[in-house]
Amino acid sequence: MQDLKGLILSGGAGTRLRPITHTSAKQLVPVANKPVLFYGIEALVAAGVTEIGIIIAPETGGEIREAAGDGSRFGAEITYIVQDEPAGLAHAVLTAADFIGDSPFVMYLGDNLLRDGLSGLVSTFREDRPEALILLTPVEDPSSYGVAELDGERIVRLIEKPKDPPSNLALVGVYLFSSSIFDAARSLEPSWRGELEITEAIQKLIDDGQRVQSEVVRGWWKDTGQLADMLDANRLVLQELETRLQGEIDEESRVEGKVVLEPGARLIRSVVRGPAAIAAGAVIEDAYIGPYTSIGEEVVVRRSEVEHSIILFGSVVEDLGTRLEASLLGRNVKLTRHEGMPKTLRLLVGDRSEIEIV
Ligand code: TTP
Repeated sequence: MQDLKGLILSGGAGTRLRPITHTSAKQLVPVANKPVLFYGIEALVAAGVTEIGIIIAPETGGEIREAAGDGSRFGAEITYIVQDEPAGLAHAVLTAADFIGDSPFVMYLGDNLLRDGLSGLVSTFREDRPEALILLTPVEDPSSYGVAELDGERIVRLIEKPKDPPSNLALVGVYLFSSSIFDAARSLEPSWRGELEITEAIQKLIDDGQRVQSEVVRGWWKDTGQLADMLDANRLVLQELETRLQGEIDEESRVEGKVVLEPGARLIRSVVRGPAAIAAGAVIEDAYIGPYTSIGEEVVVRRSEVEHSIILFGSVVEDLGTRLEASLLGRNVKLTRHEGMPKTLRLLVGDRSEIEIV
């Protein structure tokens, strides 16, 4: 069999993660201080897939190219493919036709995270050689997902958001395809939401009598397309980190549990209770950093408490007087409080920000 290529989908509109996605690609939001996208690239390389195409959108593509580069630092060779509009996953596949040629390929959604990687799935595909191999995961509310009806491991039907789900097994953002998916995708019409749907292309393979197999995901899987899931992914990844304290910790500071403190990060009269990750150049002063928190590079947290949150590059949180929780702060955000009466809020907030005062 020809060698497998990789196709990571990192275009899309990212409407559910606005306002972060107004200025930045959601696939570059860091989870435990590493962009989500890099976990996908690393998982492909670990499974022996090194020739990787990344689908990018015109607006956010430049930033993704800059971050992932030519792929050499991952041991991969990356080709960027611009998708002019987010017209669906099957449209993204068609956009990559020249890059894929007639190779089989792994398609991976660039905002997804899989704990146990792709190696098992790739070897099943190499051994069984079906036309498509789809990863499934049990979910509590199948009616919000694309759901598979199975006969053994063979998929007999895929249904988008079924009212009466035939199983609790939803499609995860990882698919292995032979090149026969291209003909199936070319035959599609846009769906009600105006997209070329990958589930319909796979259904076409099934209807044509081709073998579409499934495997149930082991370990956890997360789609980081919205805030709660992004925070949850951060929690799951942080839980598995090993403690590494390379920054400066003064005598009045305390570190408990699993904590990564990168070189150049400083703790001054502060407590960090892991799992937590604090990136290079961050300053934590007279502060408390609680479990499931990722503090990005050059961030300052002073006289404040932060827990279960992700704070991106260069942001400053000062004198909050209340705990910041379940929050995602973008880059260079300033969040502070001044003592004074009457209690007022002074805000300069971008479009579609969400602020909850409790
Ligand atoms: P989604 O999260 O399903 O779509 P989206 O990015 O447009 O987000 P939202 O629903 O919040 O508006 O996309 C899954 C992944 O696939 C994500 O990494 C973006 C990527 N993608 C493309 O590359 N091209 C596309 O046409 C679409 C729809 C998604």
